[in-house]
Amino acid sequence: MQENWWKNAVVYQIYPRSFMDSNNDGIGDLKGITQKLDYLKELGVDIIWLSPVYKSPNCDNGYDISDYQDIMDDFGTMADFDEMLDEAHKRGLKIMMDLVVNHTSDEHPWFIESARSKDNPYSDYYIWRDGKEGKEPTNWEASFGGSAWEYCAARDQYYLHAFAVKQPDLNWDNPKVRQEVFQMMDWWCQKGIDGFRMDVISMISKPEVFEDGHVREGHQYAEIGPIITHGPHEHEYLKEMNREVLSRYPLATVGETACVTVEEAKKYAGFDEHELNMVFQFEHMDLDFGSYGKWNNRPPRLTQLKEVLSKWQTQLHGKAWNSLYWDNHDQPRVVSRFGNDKEFRAESAKMLAICLHMMQGTPYIYQGEELGMTNAGFTSIDQYRDIESINAYHEIVEGGIAGEDYMMECLRFKSRDNARTPMQWDSSVNAGFTEGTPWIEVNPNYTGINARAALADKDSIFYYYKKLIGLRKEYQIITEGSYELLLPDSEELYVYTRTYGDEKLLTVCNFTGDIQKFEVPGGFEKSRCLIGNYSRDVYKGQIELKPYEAFVLYKCR
Ligand code: GLC
Ligand code: CA
Repeated sequence: MQENWWKNAVVYQIYPRSFMDSNNDGIGDLKGITQKLDYLKELGVDIIWLSPVYKSPNCDNGYDISDYQDIMDDFGTMADFDEMLDEAHKRGLKIMMDLVVNHTSDEHPWFIESARSKDNPYSDYYIWRDGKEGKEPTNWEASFGGSAWEYCAARDQYYLHAFAVKQPDLNWDNPKVRQEVFQMMDWWCQKGIDGFRMDVISMISKPEVFEDGHVREGHQYAEIGPIITHGPHEHEYLKEMNREVLSRYPLATVGETACVTVEEAKKYAGFDEHELNMVFQFEHMDLDFGSYGKWNNRPPRLTQLKEVLSKWQTQLHGKAWNSLYWDNHDQPRVVSRFGNDKEFRAESAKMLAICLHMMQGTPYIYQGEELGMTNAGFTSIDQYRDIESINAYHEIVEGGIAGEDYMMECLRFKSRDNARTPMQWDSSVNAGFTEGTPWIEVNPNYTGINARAALADKDSIFYYYKKLIGLRKEYQIITEGSYELLLPDSEELYVYTRTYGDEKLLTVCNFTGDIQKFEVPGGFEKSRCLIGNYSRDVYKGQIELKPYEAFVLYKCR
């Protein structure tokens, strides 16, 4: 296989619970995925990243694993998995597994043993500390609210959980833990899987000394992310993982690296570092944070978005590899967030796709993004299923930190459940996702927004994604070219060039619902338009961009 094959690949993320239900119990499953592989083949993606399908009590929808070598009952059996893998491979599609090894479920046999006593073979598999004056060992806050420490009477100690109480953190400083994880990874590689997406991998190496962190005004605890990311042995452990497992298979690997900076990313994904192929950075997703962290109701300014994305484009160029994404199972729908999901839904969804897919890096498409699926629009807290959203609602509303109406608005704008409503396949009942009762409500707009309608319309968002994927295969400049931002101060237009030898690309995106004047830069007079979301005859001199218009010009001297 060609080295660095993942560089011009496109990844499609499936959230199995919400993708396709084959047995009408209301929950998506592996057989459902197998049924829809032809749809993904038609779209043209190369790799499918599967959110976790392992055995799990489901406190965090599978990100709490109780057996890494078995399948969640809701999703089917290992035989169903093998069939899916085989059918994917027959179609030339690769499968990237979600690897969740910062923590396990508290129902994992390792933890059950570990929690029994201080002297059992698993006692040091997790992070245990004595209390401090009858209280938690430190003031760290779990990412899903409350203290990051939970008391366990059998050991008269606390265990660390960076996420929910049911997600205890593994102790990576224990060489036995690393060996177990590497063996398990190897087992999946032997099965023939093609890659790993590594959940919060930037948190595996904890600090040498555990100290209280800074508590922001109005908060009870200190935010844990900055304290426990990129710890002292982080890169040592990833190099070990690379040596022991990754380097022995032709895999694509991506690290979900909370709190990552450009400098850190060069270590995780540097071309000569022998750790991971690429990382997910969060800076462009965190721009709309407010005084209650992610719970905010306003989008960022375009200049901020451009500054962040441009920094990653230029500073990793030639040194490390970017991943490109607007959406995933933890983020709201991009057309609702940075576009206009009402009168310009199709135009803005296409514009956002063009804007991202002409950059350098490996693009990730999240299920339904290719249809322009929108936020859920839930109006009652009872409609939510996500542990993060529900915990935050109670903490913020019942804690009197913000009013209920405001919090409901924040959830409508930012909740992870916006991305988790069932995939909209057709206009039949429950969007064709299930004939049972879906585990989370279907977005009522499925009657108009669905895959069947998209496939029947040659001008649909789906076919723009397909075309963008095709362009990446055809034009090396999209993979290799350098990036330059034009008009950095514009709050309306996102314009950038790519340069590769004699070739040049110009990407022009109107991020507003208004007409915008734009002067096509000199040198593009003899260029061709590779893709655009409106038809237009003239691409030179002064032009007027239509609402959310986007196009790409290409020239080769
Ligand atoms: C990652 C996952 C998220 C999960 C968390 C804890 O951020 O993407 O869905 O809740 O890790 O595993
Ligand atoms: Ca099912």
